[in-house]
Amino acid sequence: MESTDASPFAGLLSLKGQTALVTGSSSGIGEAIAVELARSGADVVVNYHGSAEKALGTVERIEALGRRAVAIQADVATEADVARLFDEGEAALGTFDIVVSNAGLQRDAAISDMSLDDWNKVIETNLTGGFLVGREAIRRFRRKGLREEVSRALGKLLFDNSVHQRIPWAFRANYAASKGGLKLLMESLAQEVAPEKIRVNAVAPGAIATAINEIERDKPGGVDAMLKLIPYGRIGEPADIGRAAAFLVSDAADYITGQTLFVDGGMTLYPEFRGNG
Ligand code: BGC
Repeated sequence: MESTDASPFAGLLSLKGQTALVTGSSSGIGEAIAVELARSGADVVVNYHGSAEKALGTVERIEALGRRAVAIQADVATEADVARLFDEGEAALGTFDIVVSNAGLQRDAAISDMSLDDWNKVIETNLTGGFLVGREAIRRFRRKGLREEVSRALGKLLFDNSVHQRIPWAFRANYAASKGGLKLLMESLAQEVAPEKIRVNAVAPGAIATAINEIERDKPGGVDAMLKLIPYGRIGEPADIGRAAAFLVSDAADYITGQTLFVDGGMTLYPEFRGNG
């Protein structure tokens, strides 16, 4: 019998009984993802690199939603840190059903001034970090086994990518290269583990108001310059990404794997071509 529930989602968006890990969730998009997963019912391990205080802020927001949360320091670019993060996280909140690889950074420079350290730092965090977190997530999903009472999938791995997995970015070649690499890492993993009922996807945010682009927004005319790139006419909010993430890791998206959901107010529609070209 077909369900007569008025919503096509009929509870499928719920993450009740599931445990999630979100890397880099002491602020910005990571924080919003952690909070929206909690709002959907998940308990959340909040990973941070630098600021314990900010991470505790995310923990408090999650607890205020009636969910459990714990903050754990770890550098996603360090293999031993990632293993410890999963160990400590599992010990605190139970095995993971959802892992969001979100931690990322920018080190902008014109190519002739870009140091090897600028290059390595960005690749290590954004791309190698994605590899280390993704690999560990898949290992742990297998060990955990299917829990059909909470989700149809054995595990959900989600990457936070960027419109710059597609749009080239002058003066940020290291960042664009890391995000382009992350796209094919995500798709290759999705292809590899789909038969085991592990779903791997990405969100690709456009310009979202967070610390990463604060310098650009604070420049005179900075916001207007950015808005020219956004047909929908507003800078994104972290919760825009949080909601997209909560959907992709839920059973409402159970048949979606290997996909990137662009959440960018139309930035990837190349708005410069409206009436031009
Ligand atoms: C970058 C931001 C930028 C946005 C749109 C993101 O991936 O981290 O600094 O505003 O892309 O260009």
